[in-house]
Amino acid sequence: MKSRLLRLLQQLGLLGGAYRTYERLQALSPLGREAAADDGLPVPPARLRVRVAGTADRDWFLEGGRRAEESIRAALARHGAAVEELGALLDFGCGCGRVTRRWCRLDGVHGSDMNEEAVAWCRANLPFGRFETNGLAPPLAFAGDSFDLVYALSVFTHLTVDLQHVWLRELRRVLRPGGLLLLTTHGRAYLDGLSPEEREMFDGGEVVVRWEDVAGTNLCSAYHPESALRGPLGAGFTFLELVPEGATGNPHQDLSVLRKD
Ligand SMILES: C[S@@+](CC[C@H](N)C(=O)[O-])C[C@H]1O[C@@H](n2cnc3c(N)ncnc32)[C@H](O)[C@@H]1O
Repeated sequence: MKSRLLRLLQQLGLLGGAYRTYERLQALSPLGREAAADDGLPVPPARLRVRVAGTADRDWFLEGGRRAEESIRAALARHGAAVEELGALLDFGCGCGRVTRRWCRLDGVHGSDMNEEAVAWCRANLPFGRFETNGLAPPLAFAGDSFDLVYALSVFTHLTVDLQHVWLRELRRVLRPGGLLLLTTHGRAYLDGLSPEEREMFDGGEVVVRWEDVAGTNLCSAYHPESALRGPLGAGFTFLELVPEGATGNPHQDLSVLRKD
């Protein structure tokens, strides 16, 4: 029923607008109340929280960010790195800074997102970082070899395969040699939600993408078999690991670690 309605909206050219309306309605939830956060930083408004977390729930916004920090620290530790020792890091698809705010005591923190309102909020409220906007497709506003760490949490989950390829090349460009890339993706934990045809594609090593014409929104959903990440998508990187459901701040998503050599 839901898919039929979405297909009808797609045929009418109304899919993107209808999805934005759905997000606005979610932001009206009573869970969207504002209150100061323990980290002393302002909490973004509900409509921005919905776009990064899928819910206006302020407590989950903060707790999910804390868990994401934990999973990033643990991944770095497994590969002999620590966030305090990095020269510079980039949160690609930072949204309104749910995870970026966790690095408020560090130097060299950068964020980039295609959502201008979210980036404006970060610039105004997270003064420790440098925030830039980018388009749906590359480039980024940063020079080559700028970062020791780039992470993209629940971003490649919302892009077409073509966009994923060009963004992986761009993220590789801005990483320094030896730098790490952390990516989260929908993997085997999501298999039950796929149709038989999608499941066949996934099992055959293909990335499944739904609602490609609204790429960059949370309605567009990509599902990644490990072999696609280790193979064509990971070209130019050394693929270090995929941890099933390892993205604890983006529950049930897999966490992959790649290195630019
Ligand atoms: C589900 S949210 C996750 C936000 C954040 N990474 C987190 O985990 O809290 C997806 C984010 O990716 C951003 N995004 C999607 N496509 C993008 C693109 N091509 N370039 C930059 N940001 C993008 C969206 O604007 C949104 O902020």
